Amino acid sequence: MGALQPEFGFAYRHFDAPLGGEIINLDLSAPLSDAAFDALRKSFLDAQVLVFRNQFNLTPQQHIAFSRRFGELQIHVLKEFHLSGHPEILVVSNVVENGRKIGLGDAGRYWHSDLSYKEEPSLGSLLHAQELPATEGDTIFANMYLAYETLPDPIKQRIEGRRAVHSYTLKYDDLRARSNARNALTPEQLAQVAPVSHPIVRVHPETGRKALFVSEGFAARIEGLPEGESDELLKFLFAHSTRPEFLYRHKWQPGDLLFWDNRATIHLAVGCPPDQRRTLYRTTVKGDKPV
Ligand code: SIN
Repeated sequence: MGALQPEFGFAYRHFDAPLGGEIINLDLSAPLSDAAFDALRKSFLDAQVLVFRNQFNLTPQQHIAFSRRFGELQIHVLKEFHLSGHPEILVVSNVVENGRKIGLGDAGRYWHSDLSYKEEPSLGSLLHAQELPATEGDTIFANMYLAYETLPDPIKQRIEGRRAVHSYTLKYDDLRARSNARNALTPEQLAQVAPVSHPIVRVHPETGRKALFVSEGFAARIEGLPEGESDELLKFLFAHSTRPEFLYRHKWQPGDLLFWDNRATIHLAVGCPPDQRRTLYRTTVKGDKPV
């Protein structure tokens, strides 16, 4: 797995982990040829979580422009946490400035795939470190191909052809109760995040591999099953998909930009001590309707 790409001046290395890889020696603020971009796209599909190191020069405009090369960008429903002048960027931050929360402070505290609650969920997200805490603040990723492939056959049979309802509001009140990081949703915001249903197992549109597509953050119930059976099966799937042998834990370094595949991974932000500042900028690329 993984390959060097010296012809483009950068190198790709797959981590010694069930997923994840890094691009070394590439400045995303500089022009990138179509051929080099294609090589990056292959590395992304291989790694599922691609780490671009040392992106100290990348401006929000360049972050947006690079993200757009992968597809249309999705605008997050929490518009109060958009970067000023750049609604394509969601600010993930625990920083309060002049009494105002500059970003979403508790983003990703449950395992999830970004925007799985949309009819057309995300292809991938690009998260760029701005300010990192001295301790903690890691992001953990799970390989959902492996999660599917290692399911016991009876479970594969039980979920075959079934769909799960994904809801943005599933954990929203719980998160609000745990901290003061987010406001109540307005009727206008609620209207933008009506629940949707997706296959529990999806076929990745680019690799053709099957991946499990449920997570504790957004998957509320399995359609057509009694509540107790749906809860029991989802609980099993959530626990199975986050087994240690499917995980890569990213320890952020200054200048990192991560690009992860929301069609084949889920992730969890572990958080950091409240007295330490953590700010990252996120764009989200729209993907296909899962099949
Ligand atoms: C997210 O879920 O997009 C946020 C991840 C993080 O803050 O590490």
